[in-house]
Amino acid sequence: MKKIIAFAGKGGVGKTTNLALFLKYLLETKEDLKDILVIDSDPDANVADVIGKEISFGETIGGKMRVLKEKIQKRQLPLDVPKNQIIEGDVYRCLIEMDRFDLLEMGRQEGEGCYCYINSVLKNCIDTLSKNYDITLLDSPAGLEHFARKTGRDVTDLVIVTDPSKMGIHTMKRILEISDEVELKFENIWILGNRFPKNLREILKKEVESLNKDNVKLLGFISNNDEIGEVNLTGGNLLKLSENNQSYQEAKQIFAKIV
Ligand SMILES: Nc1ncnc2c1ncn2[C@@H]1O[C@H](COP(=O)(O)OP(=O)(O)OP(=O)(O)O)[C@@H](O)[C@H]1O
Ligand SMILES: [Mg+2]
Repeated sequence: MKKIIAFAGKGGVGKTTNLALFLKYLLETKEDLKDILVIDSDPDANVADVIGKEISFGETIGGKMRVLKEKIQKRQLPLDVPKNQIIEGDVYRCLIEMDRFDLLEMGRQEGEGCYCYINSVLKNCIDTLSKNYDITLLDSPAGLEHFARKTGRDVTDLVIVTDPSKMGIHTMKRILEISDEVELKFENIWILGNRFPKNLREILKKEVESLNKDNVKLLGFISNNDEIGEVNLTGGNLLKLSENNQSYQEAKQIFAKIV
């Protein structure tokens, strides 16, 4: 079983938080699962933040690629090594080994000039890299651009997170529309209602039913939780949430549908 699971949705709806809850679920309940890769595409190193890890720009792909671009411009690269091999080496050096999973921080792309070549090689490297892992979790940046650019091509499970807001649900629908337009194929698309009070859950259920699509399913709901808010504010580690935390209990139930 190889899965690439991406978390998408409007800004601030809880993509990174739920990715961390999912990671905690995998680490604590799937002991035979050895190879987990987490790719954080957010320029601001969101995932590292919620697992209490500090990462410098130089440790991110963006940091490494800035150095590489300068070297290309100054013609300082060895001529006998193909550029894609150098990029590949950089990607492997960026892997941060955590306890039982690896983390890859994409970081910001700084400076001017075209990153097209670098980005296309990068995409291939990351596709190849994730083949070495049973499960790859991907924290997508907010917004829709990367869907339109088809960067989600190899994702098996797309989790679209929405909070109880019109805009959250609107973005959810736009992601579904764009995925159709550019013919992205996912095995499953899951809708996750984050911070939904019980009395509003029926609304999202109805929305998902009215989509009438076989591969789009309601994953479930995660309640608003004070401990999660506190961890975020104090720079703590969501992987260390207490076992009886209500949202984590809910997360365990709903994520079992995916893995
Ligand atoms: N279930 C929850 N209970 C309490 N607070 C939550 C919950 N989910 C998310 N939050 C809080 O909401 C804020 C945004 O969450 P998060 O960073 O996960 O969203 P995001 O979608 O990744 O945002 P961005 O688009 O900026 O990457 C954070 O402060 C987080 O702690
Ligand atoms: Mg985030």
